[in-house]
Amino acid sequence: MTESLILRELLATEPGWVSGGMIASKLGVSRVSIWHQMEKLRAQGFGFEAQPARGYRLTRRPKSLHAGLIEAQLRVRRKGFSFMILDEVDSTNDEAARQLAAGRPAPFAVFARRQTKGRGRFGRVWHSEANGNLYSSFAFRPRLAPERMQTFTLWMGVTICELVSKFVPVPPAVKWPNDIVFDGRKAGGMLTEARVDADQIRDLVFGLGLNVNSPRNGWPGDLARSAVSLSELAGGPVDINRMTAALIGRVLLAYERFADGEHLDTFAELWNKYDVLKGREVSLTEAGRSRKGRVLGIDDVGSLLLRDEKGRTRGYRAGEVTIDKGG
Ligand code: BTN
Repeated sequence: MTESLILRELLATEPGWVSGGMIASKLGVSRVSIWHQMEKLRAQGFGFEAQPARGYRLTRRPKSLHAGLIEAQLRVRRKGFSFMILDEVDSTNDEAARQLAAGRPAPFAVFARRQTKGRGRFGRVWHSEANGNLYSSFAFRPRLAPERMQTFTLWMGVTICELVSKFVPVPPAVKWPNDIVFDGRKAGGMLTEARVDADQIRDLVFGLGLNVNSPRNGWPGDLARSAVSLSELAGGPVDINRMTAALIGRVLLAYERFADGEHLDTFAELWNKYDVLKGREVSLTEAGRSRKGRVLGIDDVGSLLLRDEKGRTRGYRAGEVTIDKGG
């Protein structure tokens, strides 16, 4: 806690100086204890310049996820929210589900530097090396009807587009139902999972994998063509701790709005802004069957509306969409 408060003071005056005595009196601790904390932070990848007359200033931050640095950059501290950062885990979605089952108070988030069993839709593998990308899951205990899960993911999709558009100069898009893309290349994927009791969601895990800082030539096989990282689009490294703090703020706010049913107008507007499929000729593969059609949009429950060549319109709840050539 003291750690994040010290960092908050240093960040607030960056690139200027802040006096050790000032931090100490603000936090109600001794100057020696501040000095000890700063030495600890140095060992974790921070750099400080220290001058007797001026105090301290921040010169370097860790490149990998750091709890204190995320905490220090949270704009709003939401009561009851907690998060954990793991070096390695099977899947952050699975860890979140285990924590929920063990009774951890929600909302909370699980972040990992690496996953050994990262999962995507349809049981696919989500490539999850320790390569500067973000593997995250947010856990909630909502009182929602299960059929609202699809729109929840779509709403989160536009929320993530709003977030990443603050970090890269290229406009993001959401590809129904769960991809964050830039010009056809995937920068993020979402996986929402829920346990359902009778006709209510008992708990819900929103998983997000975001390609933040992976090097361009670091992708294996096909991913080299189909994946892109934000750093590549930004032309340099993206501050993953600042981004994670912003992500927490946005996801929690988006969740609250969704749970209160206050998201509808904004959702319609943002879906229009970020939807990459509207009006396109696509193929949708669902349970081994492929259908072709033009995308009209989505319906109230988040199904994709396709009009086939005979002019018939049908909504699809699930499936894999590819944009047809020339479509
Ligand atoms: C997809 O595009 O198919 C969804 C990918 C979701 C990946 C994220 S990474 C964090 C969380 N943990 C997982 O095992 N999966 C999600």
